[in-house]
Order: sequence, then C-alpha cells, then structure tokens
Amino acid sequence: ADAVPTFAVEPSATPLAVNERAALLTNPGFGRVFTDHMATIRYSEANGWHDARVVKRAPFQLDAASAVLHYAQEIFEGLKAYRLPDGGAALFRPHANAARFRRSAERMAMVPLPDDLFVESVRAIVRQEADWIPDIEGGALYLRPFMIASEVFLGVKPSTEYLYAVIASSVGAYFKGDAPAVTLWVSQDYTRAAPGGTGAAKCGGNYASSLIAQAEATRQGCDQVLFLDAVERRWIEELGGMNIFFVFDDGSIATPALTGTILPGITRDSLITLARDMGLVVREEPYAIDQCRADAESGRLREAFACGTAAVVTPIGTMKQKDGQFQIGSGGPGQITGRLRQALIDIQRGHAPDPHGWLDRV
Ligand code: COI
Repeated sequence: ADAVPTFAVEPSATPLAVNERAALLTNPGFGRVFTDHMATIRYSEANGWHDARVVKRAPFQLDAASAVLHYAQEIFEGLKAYRLPDGGAALFRPHANAARFRRSAERMAMVPLPDDLFVESVRAIVRQEADWIPDIEGGALYLRPFMIASEVFLGVKPSTEYLYAVIASSVGAYFKGDAPAVTLWVSQDYTRAAPGGTGAAKCGGNYASSLIAQAEATRQGCDQVLFLDAVERRWIEELGGMNIFFVFDDGSIATPALTGTILPGITRDSLITLARDMGLVVREEPYAIDQCRADAESGRLREAFACGTAAVVTPIGTMKQKDGQFQIGSGGPGQITGRLRQALIDIQRGHAPDPHGWLDRV
C-alpha cells in the first residue's frame, strides 16, 4: 500500500479567542459550533489523492457547474472524539467509519478514499482541535468527513475529480430539551430507500429525501420520523438518521437486519456486540409495525430505543401514526436501554475497559 501522506498544517491566523470558545462550549447544542480548522484532500485522475492539508475552516470556491451541485454525488460520515479521564482524546471506531465511507463511495460511483487516509485525516483534525471537546455531560467533538464531486461538467456520469474534507463541531446532546424519551411519527406516505437503491450508503440524498417526512413528524408533534420498507410499507426500517432497537419481556433484543435499505450503523453494531457481551439474546430480523403495536399493547414489547453517533442511545416512548398512537413500556427510559447506553458511554469515555479495541487514542 502507498504510504499515507502527512497533512501539511497551516494554522489559522485568526483562531477564536480562548474565552469566546469557552463560552460556546458551555452549551453547544448539536452541529452549530464549528472549530477553527478543516482537513482537505483533493483527487484528480492525473494526481490521485493529493494536497492533504489542515487549514483554516473557510468557504470553498466551487464552480457553479461542479457536478455535486447538480447530481448530488456526495457522501459523508459522522464520528466522535471523546475526552479521556487522563486528559487525552480518543476517536471511537474510526476504521469502521473509513470502511463504510469506502462502501458509500463505491455505491455512489465515487473514487474511494483509502481507509488509512480517512483515519489519518480525522486524527489530524482531532490533534489540531482537541481543545474544542466540551467538558460537559455528553460533550464530544463530532467529526464530519465528507466528499463531493468537483468536476466541472454537466454530463451525467461519475466525476473525475473529488474534494474530500473533514470539519469538526463541538456538540452536546442531539435532542434538545430534557424529555426522558422521544416520540416517533410512523411515515405511511413516504419511504426512505427501495431495494437496489442507496439506503445502505451514507449519501446526502438519503437525508434530503427524508426531510419532508421529518417535517411531517414535526408537524405531528413528534421528534423523529420512522420509515417503513418501500415494498410492503409494513416492515420497520429506521428513523430519519438513526437505527432502532426493541427490547422484549423475555429480555431479548431485536433490530431490523441490514438488508441493503438500512444504514449500517456503527453504534448499532457496537450495541449488538455489547448486548451479547451482557449475555442478552440479539436478533436481527424483520419487525412489522402492526406487530410492534400489538406487542406494545400486550406488554410483550417493553422498551424501544434509537441509536446513532449523534443520538447515542435515546429511549423511544411513543409511536404515532394516522390511526392513533401507542406507548411503549412505561413511555420513559427502560432498564435495558439504560444499561446498554451506559456500557457504550463508559467505553467511549474511557471509564470502562475497552475489550474490543474500539478506542483510537489520538
Ligand atoms: C450521525 O449519527 O452521525 C448521523 O449521521 C445522523 C444525523 C442525524 C446527524
């Protein structure tokens, strides 16, 4: 394999003042506070991956005919760096994000970024911006690697040029407010991904197409949309930007299988592993919305939760659809949900041993 290029670091001449940063980090919310720098790498057919830099975060200059602006050839990732008890910082499973980014690129007919280059780019930004990790409950540095088709051409074909970048955002909780559990709107009119489509790729288009359904959820007073499968409109798939799990009265856990229409979440994968470590039975299997409702009403379904890098583990209390709503379990955080959430957080923050080698100290 080619050696990973080192990133030329050009520190910003105008970083945010330390006291202004500290003020932002007391309550950053999600995705609004950005750090001083970004990493960028370019691809061209003539030069391959080249020009790896860490530079001041600044607007891109893009030709108005850049392919991404017309045909949405774009992919992204999301991962977090956490503060460790000894003051250091660690990324959580960055190689898993690198592998998914590569598969997303392949699905979108983009040139895959080598995994090592992905991981090194994220490490470079965390090294540069470690002071931006908020020291608050649930605080982390959210890394957003992404890649766009930058060829200037209006023909519909894969771009020959790409711009890859990593930006970083200081974050707290994804869901605002201190509601103990979120409410889902079951989307019966809109679907997220069809068989053979892009559902398993982390491409911007999947999120764009979810927005109308998410807006409907918001109008219905719900926090998140729940999508059903596109063929039968029956099987539970995932939320607008999170996977979903169910906990049953026998202590077993289930989540929809990765059939190609569902985003293969790294938090999802980690929770399956942690649940099995705890001795819980985990099934990856289809679950119909009507069965879910019947099980919630009979008490067989005890808990449900959403999971993702941004959302971590968030209890689901109520599901609402056109013909009414139903509560899951107590409607609040469940016991197994809480145990899984704590086990994950303890590893991520270095408060528990890391038996699977998930932390990548930067
Ligand atoms: C993440 O969890 O990182 C996502 O990409 C989901 C989005 C709702 C921020």
